[in-house]
Amino acid sequence: MKAISDTYTLANGIAIPCVGFGTWQVPDGDAVVSAVSSALELGYTHIDTAAAYGNEAGVGKAVRRSPGGRESVFVTSKLWNDVRGYRETLEAFDKTMERLGFDTLDLFLIHWPAPYRFRDNYRELNRETWRAFEELYRAGRVRAIGVSNFLRHHLEELMETAEIPPMVDQLEFHPGWMQQDTVSFCQQNGILVEAWSPLGSGKLLQDPQLCEIAAKYGKSTAQLCLRWALQKGILPLPKSVTPERIRQNTQLFDFVISAEDEQAIDRLSCVGRTGSDPDNAKF
Ligand SMILES: NC(=O)c1ccc[n+]([C@@H]2O[C@H](COP(=O)([O-])OP(=O)(O)OC[C@H]3O[C@@H](n4cnc5c(N)ncnc54)[C@H](OP(=O)(O)O)[C@@H]3O)[C@@H](O)[C@H]2O)c1
Repeated sequence: MKAISDTYTLANGIAIPCVGFGTWQVPDGDAVVSAVSSALELGYTHIDTAAAYGNEAGVGKAVRRSPGGRESVFVTSKLWNDVRGYRETLEAFDKTMERLGFDTLDLFLIHWPAPYRFRDNYRELNRETWRAFEELYRAGRVRAIGVSNFLRHHLEELMETAEIPPMVDQLEFHPGWMQQDTVSFCQQNGILVEAWSPLGSGKLLQDPQLCEIAAKYGKSTAQLCLRWALQKGILPLPKSVTPERIRQNTQLFDFVISAEDEQAIDRLSCVGRTGSDPDNAKF
């Protein structure tokens, strides 16, 4: 990757910009419109939202009124844990599209594999849900379909009956939490891994070892974490509401982390994990 405008290619040939802008915990209305508008002005062309973030309306508004318009931006949304099943999923997708104000979506993900309220029969329900995803994809209402927080075993379960395999798995991924087993499975099966909380939700940024390595390259610790993900063929989704940081998180293409430093980062012991275990989440 040489620029923020560069893309990965999904299994179905669709191009996906190599860095996405995260919007979790950015309130709907002016806050998210302003953050997404700043990101689009600063060169991002990929925005990550979800029904659960409650800000699809503001994301849609910022994208629709951006200089390049709707067609110039890759937008992802996600099906929340209160919805499972074929018909229910189609209805939830319609609501997402109404809030975004779009005719088509670029990427739709199942947000978590085994919601608390559906845990007893999540496998069957995910299969029905996925049938709806395949229907949306075949009808051209969404350009790509995937999952989030699916571990290897959830992917294997889904792929037993899927006619179209997931194209993306969005996982917690950052120094100190690499999910090697699932990432390897994805990479061997043509599933692009996206990194959520690529900065450990900001908690990693004071890590002394990361700070020391970043200083060697004259880069911030955030830039080091994002570059490290890109060097592994992973698509990071940094979030910020601060224009200077939004800009900084695009400046990742004028340095290369050496193999030795990359391995030192890989060896960091378990730090910075913020997410729940997908098999035991309380939501
Ligand atoms: N699929 C899922 O289950 C899931 C779960 C979590 C997140 N996500 C996605 O992944 C995105 C990113 O994850 P995240 O929001 O948890 O966290 P993150 O991107 O790892 O970190 C965001 C935090 O770091 C700060 N920050 C950002 N850039 C910085 C920089 N250059 N220097 C210093 N501080 C910086 C931000 O502060 P300010 O905003 O105050 O600038 C914010 O506090 C989310 O927004 C969402 O789109 C998905």
